Amino acid sequence: MPPADRSAAGVATGDVAGEERLEKVVGLCKRRGFVFQSAEIYGGFRSTYDYGPVGVNLLRNVKDAWWESMVQMRDDVVGIDAAVLSPPAVWAASGHLENFTDPLVDCRQCRQRWREDKIEGVCPNCGGTEFTPARAFNLMFKTHAGPVEDEGAVAYLRPETAQGMFVNFANVLQTTRKRPPFGIAQVGKSFRNEITPQNFVFRTREFEQMEMEYFVPPDEADRWFEYWCGERLRWYVALGIPEDQLRLRHHGADELSHYSAATADVEFRFPWGWDELEGIANRTDYDLKAHSAASGERLEYVDAGTGERYVPYVIEPAAGATRTMMAFLLAAYDEDVVAGESRTVLRLHPRLAPYQVGVLPLSRKEDLETLARRVLRDLQPHFMCDYDVTQSIGRRYRRQDEIGTPWCVTVDFDSLEDGAATVRDRDSTEQVRLPVEAIAGELTRRLEAAGRPGVG
Ligand code: GAP
Repeated sequence: MPPADRSAAGVATGDVAGEERLEKVVGLCKRRGFVFQSAEIYGGFRSTYDYGPVGVNLLRNVKDAWWESMVQMRDDVVGIDAAVLSPPAVWAASGHLENFTDPLVDCRQCRQRWREDKIEGVCPNCGGTEFTPARAFNLMFKTHAGPVEDEGAVAYLRPETAQGMFVNFANVLQTTRKRPPFGIAQVGKSFRNEITPQNFVFRTREFEQMEMEYFVPPDEADRWFEYWCGERLRWYVALGIPEDQLRLRHHGADELSHYSAATADVEFRFPWGWDELEGIANRTDYDLKAHSAASGERLEYVDAGTGERYVPYVIEPAAGATRTMMAFLLAAYDEDVVAGESRTVLRLHPRLAPYQVGVLPLSRKEDLETLARRVLRDLQPHFMCDYDVTQSIGRRYRRQDEIGTPWCVTVDFDSLEDGAATVRDRDSTEQVRLPVEAIAGELTRRLEAAGRPGVG
């Protein structure tokens, strides 16, 4: 709800800024089961995180919202799910074996290792200013497939999902009969041996990406690049990130990746400053040509009518699911005062919220619980629901507010008489009483009214 609407509803809003917001969100993530440090009982494994019972729902909703707008709502994009493990040939052809490196330096004073371009000449550990010359550190995780650990068994964990789309280009073309412009989308894990993972789930060594390769006639590449920049920016706004916390930043020539002719980042105003959520790149015909040359397979489009053949250019919107989830959490975090009591509330878009509905029987009395469970069963096919009978009803509302549940349904003693229950709205805290059979329909209407990204 925009601030003006909130005050109209009698809800005072607080403004938690900068580092304090980050600290509070990280604390909330641990306390309420969004994100846990991985292997915590063994002291934690640096830079890896586990998603807890509410975090897994939020992350899944982010990925589903992306899939819905990028695949389901379009007739020009199809999905795939490619392997995470792949042979060196893929990464030799893509250029990653040679180019996917960061400049690594050692502090001469304390021996800590840093990414040179992130420290501005001063060691963040000891303040030292003397470093070894930078050397190229490849970010790919190398492993061995099979029982023999020799060179012939080397495999890599993918550092991006994109190559899965390029190596399957001919398969997809053949099985779907798509013609440019068309896209192949994928959501899945990627791995990078980051030198300095940081800022919670913003930069980790294991993360999830949501990428789409959009194959176009070469002379249409500039137009489609602009189109996807606009579409992707709109997606974040439609799911609740305020426009003034987002911007599009075009890369300078010195910043471009080895495959890119043009790149723009969708940036979010993180507590530490503007930083990347997603990169949109014009990858030209670099990847298809490289894989074609290395594999000997023809990777091109042939028009069955005219016989025209060409290697398409690729426009690639490449987002991080885990990083985007963090941005949604940061943008949604709020504190306010309701009826003289302060609360923490996540104003997540209802489509993203871990639970859309909390079903709360007023007490543990058997007949109340029986009715509440019936309401729960009615709602479960339509919404992700939480069921909570612990503590006072006020405390339970606060708990649901804190994890972003947009609607709570409370079954009380009157419900046993009149067959109605109270529906409470997270943002306005307004309550209305509805017959239990009407609740699923009303909440479906509200979910639709909250909007969805759609297609521009
Ligand atoms: N296929 C192009 C590609 O991978 P990228 O800019 O390196 O481009 C795309 O990655 C997105 O993946 C980034 O904008 C970011 O959201 C996410 N991402 C990249 N590295 C990440 C990391 N170490 N941790 C979390 N997310 C990461």
